[in-house]
Amino acid sequence: MPDTITATAPQAPGAELRATGSLDIKDSRTGKNYPVQILEGGVEGDTAIRAMDLRQIKTAPEEFGMMTYDPAFMNTASCRSAITFIDGDKGILRYRGYPIEQLAESATFLEVAWLLRNGELPAQKEYDRWVHDITYHTYVHENIKRFLEGFRYDAHPMSMLCSSVAALSSFYPEAKNIKDPDQRYISIIRLLAKLPTLAAFIYRHGKGLPFIYPDNDLGYVENFLSMVARMSEPQYEANPVFVKALEVLFILHADHEQNCSTNAVRAVGSSEVDPFSAIAAGIAALYGPLHGGANEAVLRMIEEIGHPKNVPAFIDSVKGGKGGRLMGFGHRVYKSYDPRAKIVKRLADQVFAQIGMDKDLEIALKLEEAALHDDYFVSRKLYPNVDFYTGLIYRSMAFPTDFFTVLFAVARTSGWLAQWEELLNDKEQKIARPRQIYVGYGEREYDSRISEKFPKTNKDGRKK
Ligand code: ACO
Repeated sequence: MPDTITATAPQAPGAELRATGSLDIKDSRTGKNYPVQILEGGVEGDTAIRAMDLRQIKTAPEEFGMMTYDPAFMNTASCRSAITFIDGDKGILRYRGYPIEQLAESATFLEVAWLLRNGELPAQKEYDRWVHDITYHTYVHENIKRFLEGFRYDAHPMSMLCSSVAALSSFYPEAKNIKDPDQRYISIIRLLAKLPTLAAFIYRHGKGLPFIYPDNDLGYVENFLSMVARMSEPQYEANPVFVKALEVLFILHADHEQNCSTNAVRAVGSSEVDPFSAIAAGIAALYGPLHGGANEAVLRMIEEIGHPKNVPAFIDSVKGGKGGRLMGFGHRVYKSYDPRAKIVKRLADQVFAQIGMDKDLEIALKLEEAALHDDYFVSRKLYPNVDFYTGLIYRSMAFPTDFFTVLFAVARTSGWLAQWEELLNDKEQKIARPRQIYVGYGEREYDSRISEKFPKTNKDGRKK
């Protein structure tokens, strides 16, 4: 059972926001003035007002008071967080202050997972313990295997991953003791350890191959590739280029502050449910084509384009609103080149230099070139995001297209868990519960238009 490691984990979000001035809001309906405190915080000196400070603004005492209206959270900070920093205009991404470029170059994925959770890079002893604990929790209960076997041969891997992670919650009922740091630690270890095992089992199920158990002599990525690809050999030796590429891709995908899936994990986690259920919610959110599912959608789009000569017509169809979106382009936060996409593009060059050019890379390069010089994309600040090139790398490793988002989920689990624990340690957080502006009917009388709704029954309750 873990001991000292839990006690050293500093997960509270850190610095409080400080008052830096006030904003005078004048209500034109009443002529009243409301001074609202301006709060400042963070390395960039972000400013905000508390939405609750607006509640005092009303025209009569019985009114509910003013709310903010912000569909899709375009301008709402839901938390203070010390985990990941993004400057979308400058194309900067840092985990706990460390630039993503340096981490991708030199760190291991498990070192990054530790960093995300604990806020500092691990000392050797801490790292060894972390790796040991994760390595020795990679096995899943045999009933999980049978659970996975119950899926159809063509079940989408993300549906299987989402359900099997949710199912794990039933194997660890003690995980619901989320206020106990030791329980949180062991749940985090279990999730980081078992995600690759589940992912690999799901891959083998899709291929109709027997499941391969974890090999505790291998590193995190090597073990995953062994469970994916090993056949009859006693020990699997992964291609070192693939191992390095996957390690880097896992680091790039580890966290990305308050994106759709992280917001889902935090929202579900705020109900104080166990972390397996909260992470399953994150996986469900990641599945969507506008989020993690984009890497799958990019490849399908490229396959549909079919040939570099068709790229200009495809770009025209996107601009004309007929060809759907240029998948792998655009981002809610990045309004310049996604720093992860730059690293992935270099990685793709290295992988293809080793194993030969992917036929669709040419289409991708042409698409990128065309979009970066087209006023439609330039004026909307649409640049390649992380998913534009990842699919090509995954395919070169022979991962099926519908499996790509699973790889994303394995990596993102580290970030989701760090965010989840930060949420639990944040005294300002409560159950997430947005308001709405109700625009439906006012009260009206029930007036049924269905003549016979309930089956007629005998006195004994049986159908007549
Ligand atoms: N192709 C064509 N046009 C686009 C694209 C695109 N990929 N993305 C945005 N636009 C256009 C919109 O049509 C809109 O144009 P308009 O102003 O003329 O109406 C404008 O750019 C702004 O787009 P929004 O949808 O308002 O931007 P939002 O921030 O809501 O969306 C998103 C961001 C969802 C990522 C979007 O850019 C998109 O759908 N991209 C394709 C899917 C994708 O690659 N998702 C992966 C994101 S990275 C990740 O989640 C890991």
